[in-house]
Amino acid sequence: MSIVYLNGKFVPDDAACISVLDRGFIFGDGVYEVIPAYHGCLFRLSEHLQRLQNSLDAIRITNPHSPQEWQTILDALIDKNLGGDLSVYLQVTRGVAKRDHALPKDITPTVFAMANPLTPPEKTTLQYGVRAITGDDYRWVNCHIKAISLLPNVLLRQQAIDAGASETILLRNGEATEGAASNLFIVENNALVTPPKGPFLLPGITRDLILELASQSHITWEESTISEQRLRDADEIWLTSSTKEILPVTYLDNQKIGDGTPGPMWHKMVDLFQAFKKSLGQ
Ligand code: PDD
Repeated sequence: MSIVYLNGKFVPDDAACISVLDRGFIFGDGVYEVIPAYHGCLFRLSEHLQRLQNSLDAIRITNPHSPQEWQTILDALIDKNLGGDLSVYLQVTRGVAKRDHALPKDITPTVFAMANPLTPPEKTTLQYGVRAITGDDYRWVNCHIKAISLLPNVLLRQQAIDAGASETILLRNGEATEGAASNLFIVENNALVTPPKGPFLLPGITRDLILELASQSHITWEESTISEQRLRDADEIWLTSSTKEILPVTYLDNQKIGDGTPGPMWHKMVDLFQAFKKSLGQ
């Protein structure tokens, strides 16, 4: 049993109730964030709250809380769940109204947050890397919005699981965009390449931090489209997210990437990432 936050109250998860008319339930009309907390401290909070603001603006919901209020709520949630390493999930839906596609006036958004243990990838995963498959990116054209309506992402991720892989790397018009729940990097000749931000991918917080760390360490990087062939020929492939950090992909569609083990640039970036966390006391 964990303690969750719902509309101003902290309650046990099995006691939290929302209306069946909530537009999040009926239409998937809402947005969310997943924020890691290390040793009880929220990681890159202001970046996550800025992206939340962008998502809310894009779907025309007024942010129910200031950044300070969000921090107070989420810190209390972490305390009530005994701190440690947690994955903090928050979601804001448009609220409760009679079912009608058009936006209702004057309704109060529903605010929900929960915290679950953040489990680092298994040792063997990091030793051998993970398998990924490619799949057709049939999502909509507003993938920069972190919307709770995730049916395509759910089905695309399951496609990977069904194939004995961990993630599906999505291809749109012959170019790789991101994973079903992660951003994409490749390494070519010791340089990092990741697709540019835009409507076809989520602007990942982990992605941005990796570029920041690369700049600080004079690692060459570029934002550039990645054709399917370029992806398959890469020296290394990584998938990044707040819950997985940086995962090395060592097999793509059953073909080896590089020598089939996590590459040297991945080792370097993981060290930089962990050193950055440590420098924050995390
Ligand atoms: N998802 N792209 C997609 C489609 C994602 O769902 C995610 C993360 C990312 C990585 O973003 P970030 O580095 O900010 O976590 C990219 C979260 C973890 C989820 O839905 O659980």
